[in-house]
Amino acid sequence: MLLPYTGEKTIISNFILQHVPPNVKTYVEPFGGMFAIYFALNQIPRKVIYNDTNYLNYNLFYWLSNKYKTFHKKIKDINASEYLFYEYKSDIYKIVNKKKDFDLAIKYAYVLSNCNSPLNVRNSTFNISDFFDKFKDKIYSDDFIKKIKKIKPMCLDYRDVINKYDNGDTFFYLDPPQNFEHKELSQRLKTIKGKFLLSCSDFPELKEYYPEEKFDLVYNRKEILIKKV
Ligand SMILES: C[S@@+](CC[C@H](N)C(=O)[O-])C[C@H]1O[C@@H](n2cnc3c(N)ncnc32)[C@H](O)[C@@H]1O
Repeated sequence: MLLPYTGEKTIISNFILQHVPPNVKTYVEPFGGMFAIYFALNQIPRKVIYNDTNYLNYNLFYWLSNKYKTFHKKIKDINASEYLFYEYKSDIYKIVNKKKDFDLAIKYAYVLSNCNSPLNVRNSTFNISDFFDKFKDKIYSDDFIKKIKKIKPMCLDYRDVINKYDNGDTFFYLDPPQNFEHKELSQRLKTIKGKFLLSCSDFPELKEYYPEEKFDLVYNRKEILIKKV
């Protein structure tokens, strides 16, 4: 796990990875979050696209992938404290313009590491943890550097990312938020040229939107995977 995040998929990554095809050329996550499945992959695709409409996520991945050496230098002396948590949390939600901001990326990583509720970061309280120290160790590792360097981060709506990268060489891993409205996505996936794997929980219209004659459905206790691979 890079950082705690709502819907982060490290815990069930083994189940999901069984359904990722080998030798992916272009790997795209339109709903990137903390990108757990990419970091768990046992392959490094030629092209890797991270996307998320949450600007804080995009900004974090932008700096991690483009300036990871500066990131290492700046982050090493920051230690967890309750005071810093509340100061940083207030700063990250004061974004006035969406310019790429290095300090914001570090503050966001710190807040995610120490908030008591990744589901509701804005209203969360301080929770002392070792996630920030683990994050610091992780971003120095060779495996992480090899992977982070490959990423092209984007901050678009998922529809635009699918349209931009859909071709026979692309594999999409799609992990929309809880309570996502699937109707439009399911229509788009019926005509997709690339391969895909979609994670979701059960919902009343699941079989209507993703009928078994058009999609492969795989169930485990917590997750449903819908796929074309
Ligand atoms: C369930 S989380 C993804 C978790 C991710 N798989 C991980 O391992 O951390 C869903 C993400 O989709 C993003 N999102 C929500 N609506 C979106 C949209 N219309 N287009 C792109 N991203 C969106 C959210 O900001 C959130 O980070």
